[in-house]
Amino acid sequence: MIIIKSPREIKLMREAGVVVGEVFAALETFIKPGVSTLEISELVEKVMVEHGAKSAEKGYCGYPAAACVSVNEELVHGIPSAKRILRDGDIVSVDIVAEKNGFLADACRTYAVGICGERQKRIIDVTTKCFDEAMKLIKPGVHLGDISHRIESVAKENGYQVAREYTGHGIGSNMHEDPYIPNYGYAGEGPILREGMTLCFEPMLLEGKNSLRILKDGWTAVAKDGKLTCHYENTIVVTSTGFEILTMLEKEKKERGYAI
Ligand code: MF3
Ligand code: CO
Repeated sequence: MIIIKSPREIKLMREAGVVVGEVFAALETFIKPGVSTLEISELVEKVMVEHGAKSAEKGYCGYPAAACVSVNEELVHGIPSAKRILRDGDIVSVDIVAEKNGFLADACRTYAVGICGERQKRIIDVTTKCFDEAMKLIKPGVHLGDISHRIESVAKENGYQVAREYTGHGIGSNMHEDPYIPNYGYAGEGPILREGMTLCFEPMLLEGKNSLRILKDGWTAVAKDGKLTCHYENTIVVTSTGFEILTMLEKEKKERGYAI
């Protein structure tokens, strides 16, 4: 069942989303060669707490950290470690969920570390483009399959695969609500979008073969062939005429063409 949120609930989710935006603003200048993935996770937690929120990932199904920090061939759920030091040319995705006053907001950014190659920059650009192109379709009455199909098409047109084992999802006072939102699908299929739905769209792209394995830590999903992967995500609310992104500060909205 897809839960339609009231204006009050949307307001609370917007507040959780602002915290997520603040975390990314802090990470923007923090991520550089020499920083460990654990230091990233510690900063995530610190900024959340400073803003009256907490990490909804910590303890979720036993997840041991405040953020998922995944490097290069790691697609999702990388466990932060003091031993994993970022270097020039790495790409690092930081996937976070803030909980404030009982409501959640979930988003992910992938950062190029230091001096990065074209290969690295391109997968980041295409992954964000998958999201941006999908957003152009969002309004009440549209089938979710239209959106999923768009994400898949943009990825494939650019020579990438989409992960099939992980999906976007509804969100609210729980991290994962209906509907599940695959990054592939058929136009005209799936649930119909309605005003007040709060949804996470999260393209996950692979440069090589579409085949993943889980590391011995039980969490980290990596590309089997060791090639690059990338993840980008925002929580949005469907409005009467389109959508509003909840997990972007005004500055980022302006930079990315989402300012109203
Ligand atoms: N943020 C992830 C998502 O997009 C879930 C994180 S799994 C956790 O669904 F265990 F780290 F919480
Ligand atoms: Co997420």
